[in-house]
Amino acid sequence: MTETRNIRFTAQAGGSLKGRIRVPGDKSISHRSIMLGSIAEGVTEINGFLQGEDSLATLQAFRDMGVAIEGPREDGKVTVHGVGLHGLKAPSGPLDLGNSGTSMRLLSGLLAGQAFDVEVVGDHSLMSRPMRRVTEPLAKMGAQIGVTEMGTAPLKIEGGHALQGISYAMPVASAQVKSCLLLAGLYAGGRTCVQEAAPTRDHTERMLSGMGYPVSSRDGKVCLEGGGRLTATPIDVPADISSAAFFLVGASIAPGSDLLLEHVGVNPTRTGVLEILKLMGADIEIHHQREVGGEPVADLRVRSAQLRGIDIPLAQVPLAIDEFPVLFIAAACAQGRTLLTGAEELRVKESDRIQVMADGLQALGILAEPTQDGMLIQGGRLSAGRVDSKGDHRIAMSFAMAALRAQGPIYIDDCANVNTSFPGFVDLSSAIGLRIKTN
Ligand code: S3P
Repeated sequence: MTETRNIRFTAQAGGSLKGRIRVPGDKSISHRSIMLGSIAEGVTEINGFLQGEDSLATLQAFRDMGVAIEGPREDGKVTVHGVGLHGLKAPSGPLDLGNSGTSMRLLSGLLAGQAFDVEVVGDHSLMSRPMRRVTEPLAKMGAQIGVTEMGTAPLKIEGGHALQGISYAMPVASAQVKSCLLLAGLYAGGRTCVQEAAPTRDHTERMLSGMGYPVSSRDGKVCLEGGGRLTATPIDVPADISSAAFFLVGASIAPGSDLLLEHVGVNPTRTGVLEILKLMGADIEIHHQREVGGEPVADLRVRSAQLRGIDIPLAQVPLAIDEFPVLFIAAACAQGRTLLTGAEELRVKESDRIQVMADGLQALGILAEPTQDGMLIQGGRLSAGRVDSKGDHRIAMSFAMAALRAQGPIYIDDCANVNTSFPGFVDLSSAIGLRIKTN
């Protein structure tokens, strides 16, 4: 990642978004398709796999553990030759998961149940993110995982320890923690139950069920018994609503826009961005809703609308957790003030998304007051300016959208990590009207 700071976006002011596009595959589902496909019995055919650096890091980690994986081919097809729950092999060195928190947290649960030792590392951002949220409950299950004094990676995971199922009430609303414990639970004796602090994305539960593994989910408590088996099944990865979100906001704020986003995953644990934008007055239609491979999918039509500021409902926060950078741009273009609270998790994402977004918005002349758990934003006029994304993919793409309503060009620094979740972002967004260039 040494070249990271050298990639800069220049987004010229104005324009509108028009046309029909399919954004790349869902990142969360892509990770899980490799993980569960690898420990399933049989061959998993994946369609629509996200060829971004994060999901490719997961793919490489399983190759390093002896799983034969073909692809990704140009069309996003991947074939995973599952080795069964106990067929992974010790990698020859540390597993490098790059920028991907999902890879590290989910894998820590899965690796705690293996017979071999393994070390997991990542880039500068990932090595400073909190890992005790997974290592502490895993320790209660009998896992042995070393972390730094700060509770960060490298994670040194010792193999060969028998795991026991636990019942765990999660202190934070986190799909990564929930999924980590469920994956460890596959290898544990007895029953593992995770009580959610609030509903979070349920792709792990859905995919486990799709592979024939019994999972119960009631009143926010998700449980499974260890020692079962997974049966390979085809996986169709929908377009990522978190990537679609940039265009939902872009088309809303840019006058004259009319955009159709095809085949977007609209799992109700992910649609907070739709609810919040609708409350702000966005014009979004949901067409042709269907279910593909156990996940709800739809086409979303978005046209420009005058947005208004709102108090973001607390219940929507975990359901839109990755979309706040771009929702802050929506708030900056809305009439009146928008208040976000209850979102302290944003401080420990790929960057401190409250601080980095507040700094960027202020650099563009917007009144943005960061708080410990959110932000107060007064809608206004975005000026031209230069912002630093601090290597955070979603922040880089959010400020690119801001240019649609700015008075002059926006220069965005440190954008290489856009490739972690949205390869081809610049080409795809240029094709529908964003005036953006990489330099
Ligand atoms: C993810 C869960 C969320 C989200 C991340 C992907 C997942 O993280 O922010 O981008 O795939 O499980 P948390 O569980 O930390 O909220």
